[in-house]
Amino acid sequence: MRIHGLGTLSLVAFAAAGIAIAADAGAASREEIQQRASQIFGVLPAEAVSAENPVTPEKIELGRHLYYEPRISISRKLSCNSCHGLATFGVDNEPTSVGHDGQRGARNSPTVYNAALHFAQFWDGRAPNVEEQAKGPVLNPVEMGMPSPEVVNQRLAEIPGYAPLFAAAFPGEQDPITYDNFAKAVGAFERRLVTPSRFDEFLGGQADALTDAEVAGLAKFMDVGCPTCHMTATIGGQMYQKLGLVHPYESKDLGRYEVTKKDADKYFFKVPSLRNVEKTGPWFHDGSVTTLSQAIELMAWHQLDKKLEPADVQSIETFLKSLTGTPDPDYIAEPGKL
Ligand code: HEC
Ligand code: HEC
Repeated sequence: MRIHGLGTLSLVAFAAAGIAIAADAGAASREEIQQRASQIFGVLPAEAVSAENPVTPEKIELGRHLYYEPRISISRKLSCNSCHGLATFGVDNEPTSVGHDGQRGARNSPTVYNAALHFAQFWDGRAPNVEEQAKGPVLNPVEMGMPSPEVVNQRLAEIPGYAPLFAAAFPGEQDPITYDNFAKAVGAFERRLVTPSRFDEFLGGQADALTDAEVAGLAKFMDVGCPTCHMTATIGGQMYQKLGLVHPYESKDLGRYEVTKKDADKYFFKVPSLRNVEKTGPWFHDGSVTTLSQAIELMAWHQLDKKLEPADVQSIETFLKSLTGTPDPDYIAEPGKL
């Protein structure tokens, strides 16, 4: 093999330094890319730890039942799993979700996998954590449509199987079937919905866990500047950013502004996690983007002022697919009806 402008000697020197020169001359070695990526992304924890709501096996058991429970919706037909199917990477693959009576909300349902690790919940961050988040959909008229927390508690109290599960999850409480405890149990269950992938094996030092094409895509992802927003081990979920930071993006939804009413927050959304992103389409807060390659292209242009070549888009997409994890089938299995 000969590379223009390089003598045999320098080739040997390159090889000795462990610098890959085969596919793309001048590119960093696997090891260098791995080290850089480890510094940028860090280690994905197995659980989103919470001091206020410590995870226990009893809370998880109850939370799993509640997550799959349709009787806490007004129609007795919709559960969390209807819009965040655990067997379908925590989403419904609809542009916007179908809730009570076929009504559609305005936003795309984000995945529940790894969500507990985010710095806030919802596209606009209006709930601080998964426990507070869980109280929203049950009472949302276009989602599960329940009239009040009291009616939810009543419904749960009418199902004899729940009393012992609540008592076990919240020992010592006189009357444990409360809306707060419902939210804590669901939250505890969600705190372990974490999906490591081959990417984590690669970061952990298993150099062959990713293919050459995936490593090249990872390097491209970092070089282009995607991790300025899609950061930490969740590869997103840690800040708000303006959609259309460099080049304005057409959107009816004002995002974070809806919560704060500050002009400076217009068009700011929570940067989504890119874990399992290959499986969570359609993409963006309104589900208007139908291919992952289009999402990548739009991001590069609107957020970073870069027009990517199709080959670069493809390369980044190849890397993003390595972020698809496998949830533990026992953990997410639907429990028998109570
Ligand atoms: C009718 C569909 C629907 C149902 C039912 C539903 N959700 Fe959601 N969920 C959504 C949509 C849509 C959003 C985004 C809304 C927004 O950001 O304004 C969302 C957001 C979330 C988020 C935030 C994730 C993130 O990355 O910010 C979590 C967590 C979540 N839901 C969990 C639940 C749980 C737990 C239940 C059951 C108690 C539930 N959802 C029921 C549609 C639904
Ligand atoms: C300046 C911050 C910023 C940068 C840089 C950035 N993103 Fe994003 N990204 C966002 C925000 C904010 C969203 C949510 C957009 C919305 O509101 O729909 C997003 C959404 C996405 C989505 C859709 C995810 C989903 O679940 O709908 C993908 C894919 C994505 N980004 C990939 C990338 C790639 C690849 C790059 C680098 C080329 C990149 N992003 C650079 C902020 C950023």
